[in-house]
Amino acid sequence: MPVFKDEDSREVFQNGKEGSVSSERLAFTGRIAAGIAHEIRNPLGNVSMAVQQLKKAFAKESPWAKHIEIIIRNTERINFLITELLNSARPSKLNIQPYDINVILENILYSLKTKLTSQQIEVHKQYCPGFPVIHVDKEQISRAFSNIMLNALESMPDGGSLTIFTETEGDFFTVKIHDTGEGILEEDIIKIFDPFFSTKSSGVGLGLSICYGIVVSHGGIIGVESETNKGTIFTISLPIR
Ligand SMILES: Nc1ncnc2c1ncn2[C@@H]1O[C@H](COP(=O)(O)OP(=O)(O)O)[C@@H](O)[C@H]1O
Ligand SMILES: [Mg+2]
Repeated sequence: MPVFKDEDSREVFQNGKEGSVSSERLAFTGRIAAGIAHEIRNPLGNVSMAVQQLKKAFAKESPWAKHIEIIIRNTERINFLITELLNSARPSKLNIQPYDINVILENILYSLKTKLTSQQIEVHKQYCPGFPVIHVDKEQISRAFSNIMLNALESMPDGGSLTIFTETEGDFFTVKIHDTGEGILEEDIIKIFDPFFSTKSSGVGLGLSICYGIVVSHGGIIGVESETNKGTIFTISLPIR
């Protein structure tokens, strides 16, 4: 069982290439994406309104009606994606309360129980002792951790182990989530927090960009280390107050 001290995490990946990236390097891409999304929103709104007028002007039987429906469907899809993207870059106002973070993690694991069992994933917990209370928005932090855990599960379709490690370090509380899944290619690691980056056939690619927004809006740091065919460790450090 690996011990996740910084110096030890290198040991976990000692055979082969290791990739890592952390949030300080990533803020820029998210801000650009949010900027573009914001600019697209207004013209898109105009397209939506105009096409609604066209819909009124043409009878249902008109040969143009189906084209109008296509425009409506696609503008709605773009609007959904843009909204998700903006939410990921700027999570809604935080409702900060004191919570025992180990309990938050336990609740997420409980909600994933069926998946964990059916995929034959062993769970190991190395929680720091006591009741580590930190000040967070419970809904949002839960969303961030569950996105990371879902990715971990998706990286281990044929079973493996998921280890959750927590510790208090000075003014920060750190959670490490380690899976023994497929890992992330070295060339991909810099892209995984980008909105819409996904290597999955049906992935939307917003899970980690949402996580990133949530962690950073809490004044925290998110980082990842990974090695292909060995596994991945996500590290989230949150200020205790
Ligand atoms: N634990 C993990 N193991 C392997 N790859 C991962 C892991 N977590 C994230 N990734 C990579 O990061 C990409 C982006 O993740 P995410 O933003 O959650 O989008 P999605 O899950 O929809 O693909 C994934 O498609 C995958 O390539
Ligand atoms: Mg995901």
